[in-house]
Amino acid sequence: MYKIDGEIMNILIVGTGYVGLVQAVALGILGYPVVCYDKNKEIIENLRKSKISIYEPGISKNLKKLIQEGKISFEDNETQAFKNKDIIFVCVNTPIDEHNNIDTSYFYNAIDACLKNITKNCILVIKSTVPIGTANNINKLIKRKSKYKIDVISNPEFLSQGTALKDFLDTKRVIIGTNNIKSQPVKIIKNIYKKLNKPIIITSNINAEIIKYASNSFLAMKISFINEISNICDLCGADINIVSEGMKLDDRIGDKYLSAGVGFGGSCLKKDVTGFINSAKQLGFSPTILESIISRNNQQNFYLVEKLKKEHNLTNKTIAILGLSFKPNSDDIRDSIAIKNILELKKYNCNIKVYDPRAMKNTKKILPELNFCNTIEKCLKKSDFCLIFTEWEQIKRISPNKFKKNMNSAIIFDGRNCFDVEKMKKCDIKYYSVGRPS
Ligand code: NAD
Ligand code: UGA
Repeated sequence: MYKIDGEIMNILIVGTGYVGLVQAVALGILGYPVVCYDKNKEIIENLRKSKISIYEPGISKNLKKLIQEGKISFEDNETQAFKNKDIIFVCVNTPIDEHNNIDTSYFYNAIDACLKNITKNCILVIKSTVPIGTANNINKLIKRKSKYKIDVISNPEFLSQGTALKDFLDTKRVIIGTNNIKSQPVKIIKNIYKKLNKPIIITSNINAEIIKYASNSFLAMKISFINEISNICDLCGADINIVSEGMKLDDRIGDKYLSAGVGFGGSCLKKDVTGFINSAKQLGFSPTILESIISRNNQQNFYLVEKLKKEHNLTNKTIAILGLSFKPNSDDIRDSIAIKNILELKKYNCNIKVYDPRAMKNTKKILPELNFCNTIEKCLKKSDFCLIFTEWEQIKRISPNKFKKNMNSAIIFDGRNCFDVEKMKKCDIKYYSVGRPS
């Protein structure tokens, strides 16, 4: 129970994936008890036993403790979940479909369930990343379909996978979008986040929605920009690491999201830039910068494989793939660049061996025919080429001798610039990376 001005507030989290689970655990840590509901009964069953279906550092340990303290409980019955709730955080997925449209069906199903099952006036907080204008649509829907007063708050989330809980608790800002800035619901939501002691911006719903899309698009733009520069570096023998180091010292440019490589993967950056493009087009604007972020990334994802294909015959060759998750410290393979490249390599009738510290289980579900190796050594053994897609610490620490000792021929294509070019050269390794002399 969470009390504000003497009134008890019952909190529900809808959707227990990355965002929902982190929201639940973080609110629990801040002292607000929550109930979690997911339409996937298996997920809820496991959560009741403190088992989580994703790998996200820090969640498991805290979850166990909060369950024991009675601060988090779970519900798999839709009617029961929404009953008597005052604050409902909607954290369900809003993926991109095969036609590059944002699939909001999970989101609207959750809203329907809410309208159907609530038993009192409440605050509906949109945590999912949604197309521009969604909160306004929900307001219209509420007017048509509900007898209760429901206040819609847009509260986009900015966590990154792998550091999600830390990002939430140490967020740079909290955004609260509303159509009534002075209302009691805004005061209630602001009060919840006050404990984080971070800047809170209270604005319109539409501003909040655009802040989320624009923030992810800006990060994606920095990555596509540095990748474009890295391609120029490659053509003239320059070194992108030194170029970006020189740029980063100017704090107007900033020192983050300027690591060149094979581009961004994951469930969000591409989806959100695409969602932003779609929203802009619906408003009658053609966003050329946003479009070029995506096209640069689509090309960059295959940058090293194109090089490999151009210089070598791949038929019947053995290829070691190191790193399958879309980024380190995650087992998430949604829009994984490694997987995209594996699908491309499979066309060449080669033997593909793979290794990842966390993402092999998820990869096995979609590509069971790959040769899964439980150590880096086994993966490198007797391989002709090695391709690196994720900069796990364990991968960055491989000694050059390990490549030499295990591989048929030490030819490495490093998509995350994990190693020192000079060191590799000294060890007589044929080493290709992104935007650095090979
Ligand atoms: P996810 O796929 O990990 O989890 C979504 C959960 O919602 C699933 O467990 C699913 O079963 C459940 N669900 C779907 N429809 C439901 C319904 N109608 N009722 C109840 N549960 C339902 O998704 P995620 O990565 O946590 O992302 C959620 C949203 O947050 C997306 O809009 C995403 O863009 C946004 N977001 C994600 C991140 C991130 O790093 N993953 C960060 C910021 C924002
Ligand atoms: C991203 C944003 O960083 C979060 O702020 C946002 O909340 C989230 O999307 C979301 O809306 O879902 P995430 O996708 O988890 O978070 O991970 P990032 O760390 O941003 O990495 C995304 C991809 O970009 C990875 O494939 C990573 O390897 C790549 N990347 C990142 C680069 O290629 N270069 C860089 O300099 C940084």
